[in-house]
Amino acid sequence: MAHAFMPGPVDVRELRTQVQLKYSEVATSPGKGFHFHTGRPLAAMLDYPAEVVDALPDQVVESFAGVNNPFSLGELNPGEVVLDVGSGAGFDSILAARMVGPTGRVIGVDMTLEMRAKAAFAAALAGVRNAEFFDGLAEELPLPDESVDVIISNGVINLCPDKLAAYRELYRALKPGGRLQIADVVVQRAVPAKSKAEVDLWTG
Ligand SMILES: C[S@@+](CC[C@H](N)C(=O)[O-])C[C@H]1O[C@@H](n2cnc3c(N)ncnc32)[C@H](O)[C@@H]1O
Repeated sequence: MAHAFMPGPVDVRELRTQVQLKYSEVATSPGKGFHFHTGRPLAAMLDYPAEVVDALPDQVVESFAGVNNPFSLGELNPGEVVLDVGSGAGFDSILAARMVGPTGRVIGVDMTLEMRAKAAFAAALAGVRNAEFFDGLAEELPLPDESVDVIISNGVINLCPDKLAAYRELYRALKPGGRLQIADVVVQRAVPAKSKAEVDLWTG
């Protein structure tokens, strides 16, 4: 359905600004309450292993946001290079970094400064040394071609108005034979143009 990938009438710059404002709050005021689930309750709802999540400090989990569990599609292997697109406050990146171990590495890319700062802090707090967080857009990844073994993402492509541009970038960055483990929102009917133009519906 080609229409599902069209950017539509939304003002992309305004949308990105609103998404950044929303997720900077998730990073800096996680207890504020949002119209989506966050933190430990969300991790439990999405079946992240309780023994793993319970052992993490609050500040590593409290700003977690997402729509499902990318690792439900498979564990990551030691030594793999992982890209986490829209790495947020680093919860998924930290779990990935532990799975790939010291011979592997996680590259987190996120457009929201406060999320990247929280992710770096959370990784240090969790004792993770093989994850780094970079500024960038899903639609213009700051990575060379064919440079990663696996790409994870959780609740991010749904925030991108030009999904085709984002997926082109994912395929460009992925090594041949690499894997996509993406948790996202999928609609089965075309979204009306009026709804696509409402930034509030995107940031939710
Ligand atoms: C639902 S959160 C993902 C959280 C992350 N999985 C975690 O472990 O906490 C969505 C993140 O995607 C980022 N984001 C949204 N659109 C983006 C885009 N086009 N490019 C890069 N990052 C984006 C937001 O800044 C936010 O941090």
